[in-house]
Amino acid sequence: MIRTWDRSRALFERARHSLTGGVSSPVRATSPVPLYFSNGRGARLLDVDGNEYIDYQLAWGPNILGYNHPHMVEAMRAQAERPYSYGAQHELEIAVAERIQACVPCAQRVAFTSSGSEAVQLAQRLARAFTGRPQILKFEGHYHGWMDSVLHSHHPAPQQTGPRERPNVVRESVGQVSNSVENVIVAPWNDVEVLERLLAEHSQTVAAVIMEPVLCNSGCLLPKPGYLPAAQELARRHGALLVFDEVITGFRMALGGAQSHYGVIPDLATFGKAVAGGLPLSVIAGRQEIMEQMFTGGVVFGGSFNGNPTSLAGANAVLEELARDNGAAIQRANCTGDKLRAGLQQLAQQHRIPLLVTGFGAALCLHFTPRSDLVDYRDTLADDSERLRRFLYLAMEEGVILVPDGRMYVSIVHEERDVEETLAAFARVFGKL
Ligand SMILES: Cc1ncc(COP(=O)(O)O)c(C=O)c1O
Repeated sequence: MIRTWDRSRALFERARHSLTGGVSSPVRATSPVPLYFSNGRGARLLDVDGNEYIDYQLAWGPNILGYNHPHMVEAMRAQAERPYSYGAQHELEIAVAERIQACVPCAQRVAFTSSGSEAVQLAQRLARAFTGRPQILKFEGHYHGWMDSVLHSHHPAPQQTGPRERPNVVRESVGQVSNSVENVIVAPWNDVEVLERLLAEHSQTVAAVIMEPVLCNSGCLLPKPGYLPAAQELARRHGALLVFDEVITGFRMALGGAQSHYGVIPDLATFGKAVAGGLPLSVIAGRQEIMEQMFTGGVVFGGSFNGNPTSLAGANAVLEELARDNGAAIQRANCTGDKLRAGLQQLAQQHRIPLLVTGFGAALCLHFTPRSDLVDYRDTLADDSERLRRFLYLAMEEGVILVPDGRMYVSIVHEERDVEETLAAFARVFGKL
């Protein structure tokens, strides 16, 4: 069935007269028209034109339980009769913190705030306070939120990047404070030698090395074997903290995140997205003496919605569901994603389309490229973005939604049947490409 989107078009037209740009986040203004949704169930979404989609966008990652999961609905119903915010203590804060401690290796202590961007701000501040140093070393292609202090070299244009061994620090937004670059060093990811050299050069000034342990925001690229432990050893040697930004990998790659999958325990980690299954909640977790600077070391941390009971009720349900049978649901989601990836690669081969599917089971990314390996952000610059754009459009017509950069998130409720239908739809799409 080829879908049409007349009602979405009409709502978008109406929205543009009140809501800036017609959407709540500019990246959502996708072609051919931003879809307006009316409901969802399991792994499926319904739009206002009555079209059903198998959804692999999952609200850009958070909906790890899919849509209207009974356990989540029940938790929300129970919470609906209670205050939505206290700005004070309540027992769910402890329950969720304990659940996180039980599965996330670095979580000696936990703090809650609302968005991944805020969690990263706190992690940076804690690292600077703990080390007494000003600089943060980050990696090209990695995204840590939209705040001035970290919005550097996420997706710099090729002409802005500078030498590979010494990338420029590129501000990503007009209006971003210009001297923010002074406190940032940008390194190419997955390269131990360059990291070693840059850290040696800035040995007394780097407070933290921050990274996405899997580079999800530039095409779901995996760390090379041995890279994460090497980065940890180098950070330690130079007196810097290691911060894993697990906003995407957390409660997705494994119950304990990438840190438990790879067995590399950072000093601090940030979580968001999946932790509350679609409700706004983020987490900073880490070593006790670093975290407790908020109370004993003069580190300021605020937020009217910190520890919000509604979000924590969601997180409590999500974590209970995910922790059951030792994380069986997450393992299943990762197996489902592996099947999807294998099927996709096979289809592309049959249609002689150069495609590389990167990532891990529950977070994949499609790259239209003849390359057989992608190691860092710069490798992805040669992807055929026009072909991806066409693929996404045709997939949407066939009833399958992906993230606009080609990512696919798999939830614990995507089933065999969804994978089969998806691959059948993709076979038709490849036929048209
Ligand atoms: C790795 C990573 N860190 C931080 C953020 C920022 O999170 P939020 O959008 O909740 O502010 C994101 C968002 O996509 C992310 O992917």
